[in-house]
Amino acid sequence: MYNDIAFFSGRSHPELARAICARVGRQLGAVDIHEFANENLFVQYQENIRQRDVFLIQTFSSPVNTSIMELLIMIDAAKRASAGRITAVIPYYAYGRSDKKDQPRVPITARLLANMIETAGADRVLTMNLHAGQIQGFFNIPLDELNALYPISNYLKTHDLSNYTVVATDVGDEKRARDMAAKLGVPLAIIAKRRLGNTDISEATSLIGEVDGRNVLIIDDEIATGGTIIEAVRVVRDNGAQDVIVGGYHGILAGKAVPRLRDAQLKEVVFTDSVPISGEKLLPNMKIIPIAPLFGDAISRIHSGQSVGALFQ
Ligand code: R5P
Repeated sequence: MYNDIAFFSGRSHPELARAICARVGRQLGAVDIHEFANENLFVQYQENIRQRDVFLIQTFSSPVNTSIMELLIMIDAAKRASAGRITAVIPYYAYGRSDKKDQPRVPITARLLANMIETAGADRVLTMNLHAGQIQGFFNIPLDELNALYPISNYLKTHDLSNYTVVATDVGDEKRARDMAAKLGVPLAIIAKRRLGNTDISEATSLIGEVDGRNVLIIDDEIATGGTIIEAVRVVRDNGAQDVIVGGYHGILAGKAVPRLRDAQLKEVVFTDSVPISGEKLLPNMKIIPIAPLFGDAISRIHSGQSVGALFQ
């Protein structure tokens, strides 16, 4: 066993880190993190962490590469300060789409990132809804992957879902969408999609299933530029869908995502707060589901050696 638990936040999403600590009934520890004029980062813990069970909370939100580097340096500093155990808490794991060598001369950046986190000295990782399950296997240390299906579906169950169909944005998303449909007790339809080269642009080709005269729920793993989800909305509307609710486990909202979502006449847009969504990106029809309870409860279980899977049973 380790001595007392300790929490520290990087600079990517301190609000979420504070909410996780509140759930556990603890305070965030003090850490000095700043950037020198030459863009080099500095990290120093302001309290003793020897032999403590240290949780470092840092989501990989914009600026993504700085968020990553900052976490790596925090891990290194914690290791050298003799922390008992270091858990990297990464609500959104960036580079998840780079998870295989599907073209000549391309990297597998999700794997590279896993190597870097391990090399820095992390003992465990706690994350949520990876782009693909196989990313778990890129780590040789224990990794717990939480599932926002539960808080999101609990929220959606507050709606009248009698005329809804869940639609998967592509065949690869079928399992995730099927789980959501099963949780909500509604039918499933699937869009066939192809991505155009290495661009952010995707093209939906056809729809398997029935949405004519029905309301539709499209929950992707992430909404980045919004291209995929807006194309899916076009397809379901072309096939006679009525009200459309869209969402993502991770609301990245890059590039033109916000104007696209604003112009799409959606009934609702649902995300978790795995990355910060700043005021100017918030639309009146957006609902942000807090994930601090999920992370707080998982951390309590990890600290006391209880099952994390039991949270989902
Ligand atoms: C793709 O495989 C993912 O599941 C998402 O559909 C994609 O990351 C969304 O990106 P964008 O919003 O830029 O289309």
